[in-house]
Amino acid sequence: MWLPLHAVRQRGQIVCRRGCMTAFLRTQGRRDFSRSTGRCAQTCQALSYGNHGDPLQVVQLKDVDLPPIGEKDVLVKFLAAPINPSDINMIQGTYAILPDLPAVGGNEGVAQVIEVGSQVKSLKTGDWVIPRDAGLGTWRTEAVLAETDVISLPNDIPLLSAATLGVNPCTAFRMLSDFEDLKPGDTVIQNAANSGVGQAVIQIAAARGINTINVVRDRPDFAQLSERLKALGTSYVLKEEALRRPEIKELFKACSKPKLALNGVGGKSATELLRHLQAGGSMVTYGGMSRQPVTIPVSALIFKDVKIRGFWVTRWKQKHSDDGRTFRTMLDELCSLIRQGKLTAPACTEVGLQDYHKALDAAMQPFISSKQVLIMGTS
Ligand SMILES: NC(=O)c1ccc[n+]([C@@H]2O[C@H](COP(=O)([O-])OP(=O)(O)OC[C@H]3O[C@@H](n4cnc5c(N)ncnc54)[C@H](OP(=O)(O)O)[C@@H]3O)[C@@H](O)[C@H]2O)c1
Repeated sequence: MWLPLHAVRQRGQIVCRRGCMTAFLRTQGRRDFSRSTGRCAQTCQALSYGNHGDPLQVVQLKDVDLPPIGEKDVLVKFLAAPINPSDINMIQGTYAILPDLPAVGGNEGVAQVIEVGSQVKSLKTGDWVIPRDAGLGTWRTEAVLAETDVISLPNDIPLLSAATLGVNPCTAFRMLSDFEDLKPGDTVIQNAANSGVGQAVIQIAAARGINTINVVRDRPDFAQLSERLKALGTSYVLKEEALRRPEIKELFKACSKPKLALNGVGGKSATELLRHLQAGGSMVTYGGMSRQPVTIPVSALIFKDVKIRGFWVTRWKQKHSDDGRTFRTMLDELCSLIRQGKLTAPACTEVGLQDYHKALDAAMQPFISSKQVLIMGTS
């Protein structure tokens, strides 16, 4: 059984040195204990880092003090939180926003409200919540957060869908909505199609009747991966090399040339997407997994007048922070797709918080095709 740092065993009994002993004896555990008193949850376990560097070296599981719950705060217990590439980049110190150190890792995840401050209006005990913005530090068992730091989610969707909803499906949703006026029958081409973003793109596009051409790197299990992605709602899964072959022309007899290209890789992969874009179409870059710059052929600009754009969901959320309704409307639409079985969580590997080292290591390996998700309840 987990004990807070300030609880000690004395003569076979658990005694809280901060005066909460009665409730602690009654409830016998971390989660219920927090719910019953809110007084003893003054430390939590968190994956924190004090320096930037290799996540395997700098991230450590630590007991971290929790501040008291203010009038407009909520005490939450995290249920599950994924490890995304941006989390890794933040720890490495290479991301666009970097929290002050020491920091708790993780930007995404789902938590349950355990206790609310006296002035909290929009949330109640038991609600599921996700971060409104990046930088919250979600790899932890509990947190005291401002009511405005989080937004509620219905708790009738699968846990893994909730834990992975706020970044990748939102990114996919916005990129499919905000750059080109896509109609049923239109086509979108994307690389990193097996990524969390890519899997959401396939499913949201399919729900709207939009074709997707999905490009992945070659790998020994290509056939298996291709079947998995096709089951999400696409007919076209290609290796990067196939984009360079003349036979690719056959594909465009079956579906229209793409109006939109979604680039999460950069380098040659992005240039190949661009070659197949319709005249006047848009290429939206949202990730740079290859760490290579995007090269735009002059002909694409002169003869096709393609639009070269970028998207960052963090900027989108910050821009819409005053008007929570736009974010809410998007989450409602995504949850509706989840309930209809049209949007599933990405392929995931669930890992207990204690096994974070294994999860971090796997998250940094190529060809894994599975999102590592830290499950807090199992530690
Ligand atoms: N701009 C935004 O708002 C936004 C939002 C969400 C995510 N992102 C970015 O989008 C990208 C994908 O995120 P995610 O969470 O969906 O990722 P993920 O599920 O962890 O998947 C990683 C993807 O990157 C591919 N990849 C890794 N190294 C690569 C390389 N050297 N060359 C080509 N492909 C490589 C992987 O392909 P293999 O299977 O072949 O290794 C896989 O498809 C990241 O760069 C992330 O930071 C941006």
